[in-house]
Amino acid sequence: MNPVRVGVIGLGTVGGGTVNVLRRNAGEIARRAGRSIVITKASARDFRRDRICDTKDIELTTDPFAIVSDPDIDIVVELIGGESPAEELVVQAIKQGKHVVTANKALIALHGNEIFSLASRQGVMVAFEAAVAGGIPIIKAIREGLSGNHLEWLAGIINGTGNFILTEMREKGRDFAEVLSEAQDLGYAEVDPTFDVEGIDAAHKLTILASIAFGIPLQFDKVYKEGISRITRSDVAYAEELGYRIKHLGVARRTSKGIELRVHPTLIPERRLIANVNGVMNAIVVKGDAVGPTLYYGAGAGAEPTASAVVADIIDVARTLTSDPENRVPHLAFQADALSDIPVLPMDEVETSYYLRLSAEDRPGVLADIARILANHNISIEALIQKEPLEGESHLPVIMLTHRVFEREMNNAVTEMEKLPTVNGLIKRIRMEALR
Ligand code: HSE
Repeated sequence: MNPVRVGVIGLGTVGGGTVNVLRRNAGEIARRAGRSIVITKASARDFRRDRICDTKDIELTTDPFAIVSDPDIDIVVELIGGESPAEELVVQAIKQGKHVVTANKALIALHGNEIFSLASRQGVMVAFEAAVAGGIPIIKAIREGLSGNHLEWLAGIINGTGNFILTEMREKGRDFAEVLSEAQDLGYAEVDPTFDVEGIDAAHKLTILASIAFGIPLQFDKVYKEGISRITRSDVAYAEELGYRIKHLGVARRTSKGIELRVHPTLIPERRLIANVNGVMNAIVVKGDAVGPTLYYGAGAGAEPTASAVVADIIDVARTLTSDPENRVPHLAFQADALSDIPVLPMDEVETSYYLRLSAEDRPGVLADIARILANHNISIEALIQKEPLEGESHLPVIMLTHRVFEREMNNAVTEMEKLPTVNGLIKRIRMEALR
């Protein structure tokens, strides 16, 4: 059988890793796919840069559109990231009848609904395993391995850079900016690193996971997004004292009223396996009604871990090139005409427990005022620590854990507490999840 001909757009970290993995494992890959897979053409912006891969026997170009319009290419692999020109390239490739493999989470989260609909009309596949959690085959696990389940919730550490930063802060007391710069040097961080630290990257990935888990359209704009940039070393230390770790989580939960869709720093009991996922590693817990909780763990970023997912998609596409388009696994796990219009809930209607840290005056009655406000809003305190004031200071740190409460109630209680003359400045709050 003729080899499958692949064109790669982008020879950076992931593109370079993909070339290397396809070359190194060519024999085994051909045995799995049933035919050999060769990269015939690749594009990069600039060929003067040092590359991590050997481009021998690959026709090189600086024009990515030359790849999508090449009649000899069967599969276009888009690895440049970002919305433009990735969207134009992918749309053109599909219109030319080519299958697409992409690692581009922004593209899928923001434009996936239109891209999949176009791909279905053209009878081609768009595979995107590498878009979520690097090397972990989480798309395949949810879309196929768990397809017999009614999925209840999923929660994941899905940004390697953020997890790397939080881990270094906790274990080594390192400075936020210094660790972020290391993550950039290692090729983990996004071109715009605010995407990593402000929760945008995790929200792209959560959008995709929620869609395939619950059979809903991709709805990035409805995700609540909060990053790790305001987490301090003292929050990390107080959480630890109370038996918790702070992780940046993406949470998607089905409730009777709708779907919760949110990314934010979260306290997790330290005995949970996912609380012990460190460095650039990612992990996702998926809870199904039949299987119970399942945990998927692995490298969430980096050249070869991400290439592992890209190459698996290329093999998948190669295997199904001849199969009837109607009988392929649907892009978003559920048949396109069977997606649900269940609403995504506003944050006000989300229920979680909380970690609160405030700075209060050191005199009688102060804690009583705070407790009264919480009681008026039906918020019950689970744990409380009060620290000694620092030398020469009249205020002391008070840290509280609460039971579950609707976000709306907590917002109102925090506003009232912040108005107390005995409370100094803003109250820090971090949501908590028991993940039972
Ligand atoms: N910037 C991303 C991360 C890369 O740190 O997880 C992988 O998507």
